[in-house]
Amino acid sequence: MKLIVVIGSTRPGRVSERVAKWVAKEAANLPGTKVDLVDLKDYPMPLFDEPKSPRYNPERKPSVVVQKWMDKIAEGEAYVFVTPEYNHSIPGVLKNALDYITVELTKKPATVVSQGSVGGARAIVHLKEVLSESGAAITPRQVALSAAAEKLNEEGELSEEVKAQPYGPAAALHSLLEELRWYSDALSAARAK
Ligand SMILES: Cc1cc2nc3c(=O)[nH]c(=O)nc-3n(C[C@H](O)[C@H](O)[C@H](O)COP(=O)(O)O)c2cc1C
Repeated sequence: MKLIVVIGSTRPGRVSERVAKWVAKEAANLPGTKVDLVDLKDYPMPLFDEPKSPRYNPERKPSVVVQKWMDKIAEGEAYVFVTPEYNHSIPGVLKNALDYITVELTKKPATVVSQGSVGGARAIVHLKEVLSESGAAITPRQVALSAAAEKLNEEGELSEEVKAQPYGPAAALHSLLEELRWYSDALSAARAK
């Protein structure tokens, strides 16, 4: 599968980058998986400013950076959105980026890995709802990490202690990725028909 992992926050010193690196590294170990780590920092889009809803605008002329973002997302066959929880939801920068999306995620599997003071659980619920509007096939598993900065170093490596937990984040992420791959294979075959 061609997996896109999106880093959903952009502030200096963000923890989401470590989480996304962790997801990307683990995913790269799955046979037949190509991973692209996509950083919203590389797509500095304005606050959504198009005159019509992009879904209903055949004359849409996205700006260069918006088109680059849409093309990048379109390349994927499966998605993990890594998001923190900000004020019980997702960061504005991530919601804004998703407001530009129309068909790029449609009929492709997507899920969420979150982090925050309470694991980012409310951000997961919101993000899955937002992603469903883009037609993505939201997969059941998710991972919610609390105290992510204590569990992961800057390179996205789990501490040995956390790695050893039998029902900890490593096992949860592995299950999520295996499930995503199953859906990716099934939906890629279905889309090819
Ligand atoms: C603006 C802002 C709002 C936040 N709101 C919440 C919140 O509502 N619930 C929560 O559990 N944590 C909240 N947090 C804590 C973040 O989820 C946590 O610091 C996370 O690691 C931030 O991710 P980032 O480093 O990628 O930006 C908030 C942090 C920020 C910066």
